[in-house]
Amino acid sequence: MAMWGGRFSEPSDDDLRALQDSIDFDRRLYRQDIQGSIAYAKAIAAAGVITADEADTIINGLQQVLEEFANETFELKPGDEDIHTAVERRLTELVGPVGGKLHTGRSRNDQVATDFRLWVIDAIGGVDMLLDQLQRALVEQATAHLDTLLPGYTHLQPAQPITLAHWLMSFFWMLSRDRERLAEAKQRTSVSPLGSGALAGTPLDIDREALAHDLGFASYSQNSLDGVSDRDFVAETLFALALMGTHLSRLAEDIIIYSNPLFGYISLNDRYSTGSSLMPQKRNADPMELARGKAGRLIGHLTGLLTVLKGLPSTYNKDLQEDKEALFDAVDTVEKLLPVVIAVIRTLNVRPEKMRAALDEDMLATDLADYLVHRGMPFRQAHHVAGQAVALASSEGVKLSKLSLDQLRGLSELFAEDVTQVFDFAASVARRNAPGGPAPSAVRQQIEQARTWLAGR
Ligand code: ARG
Repeated sequence: MAMWGGRFSEPSDDDLRALQDSIDFDRRLYRQDIQGSIAYAKAIAAAGVITADEADTIINGLQQVLEEFANETFELKPGDEDIHTAVERRLTELVGPVGGKLHTGRSRNDQVATDFRLWVIDAIGGVDMLLDQLQRALVEQATAHLDTLLPGYTHLQPAQPITLAHWLMSFFWMLSRDRERLAEAKQRTSVSPLGSGALAGTPLDIDREALAHDLGFASYSQNSLDGVSDRDFVAETLFALALMGTHLSRLAEDIIIYSNPLFGYISLNDRYSTGSSLMPQKRNADPMELARGKAGRLIGHLTGLLTVLKGLPSTYNKDLQEDKEALFDAVDTVEKLLPVVIAVIRTLNVRPEKMRAALDEDMLATDLADYLVHRGMPFRQAHHVAGQAVALASSEGVKLSKLSLDQLRGLSELFAEDVTQVFDFAASVARRNAPGGPAPSAVRQQIEQARTWLAGR
């Protein structure tokens, strides 16, 4: 019999039950549900709704239920619609009718919002720890590759030389923002809806603030209608995870490209590469393709939830039950993905000679323009002259550095013997040493900043 069966003369249809029962997925909230109920039992005892003895009996019973879940001896029964009904049903079996007093003044609407918030706060903590490890792996690789030259790209066309360290660190900062976003989402999740009732609050003299603090929340909700229906915390967490997944998908795409034999800059460790069942030579970067693909899944969950929330009438509606599978799956996905991405970064095989070989002197055309600028030419003109030099070298079929001084002086009188020093990739990188630039000296500072950022978390 459902806990709300009083006004019905017939039990629910089986197909309806199959559609609406959420126990299959919300049983993973058992710990939070019991934690919330223990705190609630104390709060209604303090309010004089139940006696201290009754509260003790209820709390002992709840602890037994918790053990049954933890030992996997908890038995589901027909009628256990969701985790809240299942726990209360079992509690009443264990302690008798006094168990039925626990729900006084409470609704599953404020209960589920409370449980889920507690779960999300925990989950964010877990994801954050993994992101910390990934950031540290990036810093470690970057430290080892401060001087490893790499072609930098815009539009996926060779642009200017950079270093592998600088490229690695670019992802560090994306992840730092992801972690900040998750921390902010966690703050806004840390609001207790308990005491909002079904929608219209509770007549019981509950100390909502004490109840909130007992559960580890920073504060309690100020409006019961909003309290039971606010799912911003789910949307925000899904967004933070979706954007984080988007960042990982970009890292993944770079790695996929760089590990293609045409580039050959890096390869994945054997333990993180896969082969083909048909083509013996294949070495695929499957984990990175999965990282790229999982971003789609994470974005899908965010879009799905926003679509559920859009235009929903005030307060609780059953549509809101859709919030859980989306977030559970997003967190599970990220928790499966991150350890592999961390390992891929830690074990990355780097081929500095391949990166070096891919550096083309055309990528120093900007440096050639800068050379003229130093000798007084306005940048716009210098850009044009350097472009003419590139065109001339190309039409002569030679490298930029093989143009004779006479040929260069034909383009501008400002060219002199010392123009040869432009054609040095390492020097080109070292010159771009303003903070945030790729010069090893600047990246060393950047890594210092990164370590300070990590220490401040
Ligand atoms: N299983 C429900 C959920 O996840 C719990 C709240 C049910 N409330 C209700 N009024 N039916 O949202």
